[in-house]
Amino acid sequence: MRKKIIAGNWKMNMLPNEAIEFIQKLEPLVTDTNNEVILCVPYTDLFYALLTAQQTNIKIGAQNMHFEEKGAYTGEVSAEMLKSINVEYVIIGHSERRAYFAETDETVNKKLKSALKHELKPIVCVGETLESREAGKTQKIITTQTRLALEGINSEDVEKVIIAYEPIWAIGTGKTATAEDAEESIQAIREEIKKIYGQEISKRVIILYGGSVKSSNCKELFTMPDIDGGLVGGASLEPIEFSKIVNYEK
Ligand code: PGA
Repeated sequence: MRKKIIAGNWKMNMLPNEAIEFIQKLEPLVTDTNNEVILCVPYTDLFYALLTAQQTNIKIGAQNMHFEEKGAYTGEVSAEMLKSINVEYVIIGHSERRAYFAETDETVNKKLKSALKHELKPIVCVGETLESREAGKTQKIITTQTRLALEGINSEDVEKVIIAYEPIWAIGTGKTATAEDAEESIQAIREEIKKIYGQEISKRVIILYGGSVKSSNCKELFTMPDIDGGLVGGASLEPIEFSKIVNYEK
């Protein structure tokens, strides 16, 4: 059985004092869940979030990292730096980074390799634009992104990779993919993983859905057979709303 994961992506929101207050409010609301609860926070919140979340079941992640180990890359943060303060997860290749910060399938692949080398748990994002969806290219785009992201990753490591299927047209727009459409895309991603690594491994890889997930639509999405939880943006900025998503079974 694959574990369900509910990961918040705060994007460029929340000051340290707000992060601390959020985690203190969220903690009692999610103590008895069996689902993995993750908050991917801005770099400036990481240290505070990690301290506040100690001794809770809330895990902390970053939203990006550089693929090089160290060097003259002004403004960048490496996997080793994240690991050194006990960050556990990192988002790689979010569509906003692909769109605004020149992230490519190649840099996603390099970042993924560096994250795995330093034992960070990567959440790799793939997803199609509205234009590609309307042109009937969704499956081709997302399976290609998946294959290129995983290039050179061995079968032992691929099981440590979490994939987030996030249709770009559904991010921050209030438009959610229907549970059936999300399931179909996630099945296509799993099928691609099966082609590379075989059926057994493909059944074990965790694949999330992201794009306007909220408490009112999460249950139908997360109960689809291939959807293993969600990557949640806007609805992860409010503790009660986010806790309802974490506790979607109740
Ligand atoms: P959203 O963002 O939930 O606000 O649509 C999701 C994401 O970008 O990860």
